[in-house]
Amino acid sequence: MSFVQRTHWCGDIRADHVQLEICLNGWAHKVRDLGGLYFVDLRDRTGLVQLVIDPETLGTDEIRSESCLSVTGIVRERDEENKNPKLSTGEVEIGVTGLSVLSQSATLPFPVSDEEQMRKVNEELRVKHRYLDLRRPSMYRKIALRAAAVRRIRGFLDDEGFLEIETPIFTKSTPEGARDYLVPYRLDPGLFYALPQSPQQYKQLLMVGGIERYYQIARCFRDEAQRADRQPEFTQLDLEMSFVHQEDILALTEAMTVAVVNGLIGEFELPKEPIVGFTRLTHEEAMERYGTDKPDLRFGLELFDASMIARECGFGVFTSCIEKGGSVRGILYPGGARLSRKEIGELEGIAKSYGAKGLATIARMVEHGDGTVDLGDGTFAKGSIAKFFSVEHLRALFDLSAASVGDLVLMVADTRKVTSDALSRLRTVIGGECGLRDPRKLAFAFVLDFPLVEWNTETESWDPTHHPFTSPKHEDLIYFGTDPARVRADCYDVVCNGYEWASGSIRIHDPVIQARIFDLIGVSAEDQQGRFGHILEAFSFGAPPHGGIAPGIDRLVMFLTDDENIREVIAFPKVGGGYDPLMDAPSAISQEQWKELGLSPSRRAADASATE
Ligand code: AMO
Ligand code: AMP
Repeated sequence: MSFVQRTHWCGDIRADHVQLEICLNGWAHKVRDLGGLYFVDLRDRTGLVQLVIDPETLGTDEIRSESCLSVTGIVRERDEENKNPKLSTGEVEIGVTGLSVLSQSATLPFPVSDEEQMRKVNEELRVKHRYLDLRRPSMYRKIALRAAAVRRIRGFLDDEGFLEIETPIFTKSTPEGARDYLVPYRLDPGLFYALPQSPQQYKQLLMVGGIERYYQIARCFRDEAQRADRQPEFTQLDLEMSFVHQEDILALTEAMTVAVVNGLIGEFELPKEPIVGFTRLTHEEAMERYGTDKPDLRFGLELFDASMIARECGFGVFTSCIEKGGSVRGILYPGGARLSRKEIGELEGIAKSYGAKGLATIARMVEHGDGTVDLGDGTFAKGSIAKFFSVEHLRALFDLSAASVGDLVLMVADTRKVTSDALSRLRTVIGGECGLRDPRKLAFAFVLDFPLVEWNTETESWDPTHHPFTSPKHEDLIYFGTDPARVRADCYDVVCNGYEWASGSIRIHDPVIQARIFDLIGVSAEDQQGRFGHILEAFSFGAPPHGGIAPGIDRLVMFLTDDENIREVIAFPKVGGGYDPLMDAPSAISQEQWKELGLSPSRRAADASATE
């Protein structure tokens, strides 16, 4: 059907346009039949404007919600009482003189024009009809913000002399700690490509190739457990630079983030405070102060170590934990003395779900009552284990935790890992309950000096903390043979509001050191040649010192839109275990295809392909 091309965007019509004849294209967002007149909110990607339609002049065309329209009309000022200050076009309406329904809409699976109702719609149904979900202005805004983020990143890096280079999708395994997605190779059945978990090896080979400054908006594929901030395919800004030290990469990352994020805050009028720069802390400090390597730095509430006090108290669980080499660490819940038994029980449940055997609590208060211990300064202590502490120890504990009247001290006695895991989770919960996770703040920080390797108790071997191409710190190489856990890496993360946003490192460019790392992490000499021979060989031809970083694009958009689920900021996300309900992928293949690939189907797959 022919249609009249728009002269204006819906969201741009203002009182200045009154009396102008205009043409608009868009969708019927809301349709109201007010006895004799139709009021239709016409929507395009810029916003809404109200159409007033006299059915007499327009024939009998039915206007259903979400049908696609082309209209001609005259802009009019609305009567004073009909003006809508909540809408940017709320002072005007369009008296329609010509209308064509370009494409009628069937009954919708969900009401795209009703944000309130949409919050209750099953997410899989939304993803199945994502093309309708995307019509919602709130979804459009996220997708537009994402596009603007990528545009600004490209602009910044292009100005800094980076080249944007694509690297292959059909490739060989690049380990980033997840399982590979594999693609069978038809011409030689039994061989497989792996989809890249990241372009890590190619970007290092580009540095050997003399490119010096590379970036890519890179799709990465990882078969790993899904979480709210993970998708099986996601997008990184992947970059790499030659002849740089760690500081050069940190400086570039910080400058780029400040420029991009503040630019977006301005462009999209986001309710966020502009960022000024990044905090820095070492991995050790982060673990000590917050119990996690991705702390939410919008608030304090640092963990404290009460082992010295706990060692001497009369609570057997604490003393025996310390004797066994464990520690007693805690956190303050400001105002927590008012919590009910049930609420404290919920906190204990959280601690236990992270491996703690219990959660000891002591409140500081002015009320004297059953089971309270008099501290002699007008305040009293009360809690599950207060009776095991002397007055001196209680005072020392309140000093250490900076507990004021009305506060609650929470403690966990266990290994370092369990106290860290349980208390860092509680810190996030307390921060939320106390209103400390300020949505206007973006607390970016570098976490530095990660350990090179960590002991995997399941496989009883050393695993790279980052990936096997990360350079050890030179001064720590002396511990390499004797105490690998002490070797720190030239490795850094960027965290923001409790999420990991980026990881990077200075790379090994010496084939001898690279082979030593492979030995340490248990990659056999045969595997080193088979899996990584190409990179070891490349490093033998004058490899420059190099390093890089990869921030997650999806996660950046999440920070800016305050979405807690990564699916919200991806146009066509996967749900569940990597299922695409829109395309119904993955799906069965035909018997012919099984044969071509030289593969034999499992019984279930055989049944499915028999019905193809
Ligand atoms: P890393 O594996 O830490 O490092 O990934 C870097 C960043 O990518 C994002 N990210 C993800 N986002 C969504 N879903 C996922 N499943 C997912 N996995 C990772 C995160 C993360 O911080 N090659 C190295 C980088 C380097 O050393 O230069 C790498 O991929 O934001
Ligand atoms: P119980 O003596 O087992 O009843 O425990 C008394 C209190 O100590 C309860 O509040 C428990 O939650 C707490 N508790 C028990 N084990 C631990 C532990 N390992 N760390 C911290 N608190 C604990």
